[in-house]
Amino acid sequence: MDTTTQPTTTQPSAIEKVLAFVDERVGLKTLQAKMLNEPVPGGSRWAYVFGSVLLFIFIMQAVTGILLMFYYVPTADHAYASTQYIIHSVDYGWFLLSYHFWGSTAMVVCVFAHMSQVFLWGAYKKPRELIWLVGLALFGIVMGFGFTGYLLPWDQRAYWATTVGVEIMDKTPLLGDFMARFLKGGATPGQMTLSRFFVIHVMVLPAALMGLAGLHLFLFRKAGPAGPFRGSVEEIKAKTDYFFPRQIWKDIVGMVAVFLCICSLAFWEPIVLLEEATPDPGDYHPEPEWYFLFLFQLLRLKVFAGEFGQFLGAIALPGAFMALLAALPFIDRDPERNIFKRPIALIGWIVVMASILIFTVAAIINREFLE
Ligand code: HEM
Repeated sequence: MDTTTQPTTTQPSAIEKVLAFVDERVGLKTLQAKMLNEPVPGGSRWAYVFGSVLLFIFIMQAVTGILLMFYYVPTADHAYASTQYIIHSVDYGWFLLSYHFWGSTAMVVCVFAHMSQVFLWGAYKKPRELIWLVGLALFGIVMGFGFTGYLLPWDQRAYWATTVGVEIMDKTPLLGDFMARFLKGGATPGQMTLSRFFVIHVMVLPAALMGLAGLHLFLFRKAGPAGPFRGSVEEIKAKTDYFFPRQIWKDIVGMVAVFLCICSLAFWEPIVLLEEATPDPGDYHPEPEWYFLFLFQLLRLKVFAGEFGQFLGAIALPGAFMALLAALPFIDRDPERNIFKRPIALIGWIVVMASILIFTVAAIINREFLE
């Protein structure tokens, strides 16, 4: 009987061969290791999911936006009709448009959540000042998406919110007149306005967001995650984990939860257009998208009445607030990150959030009253 045993050699499958071929040329394994083996100081947290969720929402906005562009016509005489066509005639068009609409709301909510998290965790402090600054630019882009997208359906709501928004922008010293004329492209909102808003919404802002998000992540990887704001160096080191698998799973759960929320809102609260845009508001009260409502309500206060008051409330105050946020990492040089030992930061955050909430609710109540 032959007792010699032949060593068994398993042949690589076709897929393994293709992967090995690509890996040799692209360095897939190194890339995978670089992406997934990032240490997360102190271990994974639900609080860290918002950045990845924001990236996911943006990708979905790009996908749904491209699908909408197959039908949408960005001209003053066809924008409204083509949007109605998407809602009423295209298969699942109503869902697609409503998803895109609620997706923008989700992006604003998540950007506030992400900003709040990094602020409360003191993650803007040295050496993460540039991540914070690029983040602020991303915040401006997210708001810009909301502002430019609002005009595209070309109904009364779109037309008048944009008219009011551009009038407010006009009040900015030095640049205001130029910006308002550039955006409007004429005396009253018309074809040029729609063309410019469309190009900014589908070309300029997505390109800027992709570039800046890349820079944001590059800087983030360079500095490494800030990690928890409490605990000794030894405790944090002991709990430190890799990005894969725990943090990735948390991120995926966050993405799925947000996706389901957007789908539910799109399904139960689908988008409804008003009448087609006309230069006569009739009995329609112009109102911006909900995330600008607090500013709109602020401008109704007596102190902000008149030309100078409007400039103060609409431009000077928000401008000063953004300038303060930009200067924050350079003013606050204290390395202490524990939010419970930073009373000014904690109180400041509560006051800002409560004011936004109160003014938004007041604007909604005011709207009910006007209707
Ligand atoms: C479209 C908007 C944004 C996207 C897609 C985005 C994405 C991300 C991602 C993926 C991370 C890494 C992991 C995490 O902590 O989530 C991150 C970290 C960070 N982001 Fe953003 N971000 C955005 C906006 C902002 C804004 C508005 C700010 C603040 C003004 C900001 C400040 C930061 C900071 C300071 C970190 C480092 C956090 C740490 O080290 O723990 N980001 N961002």
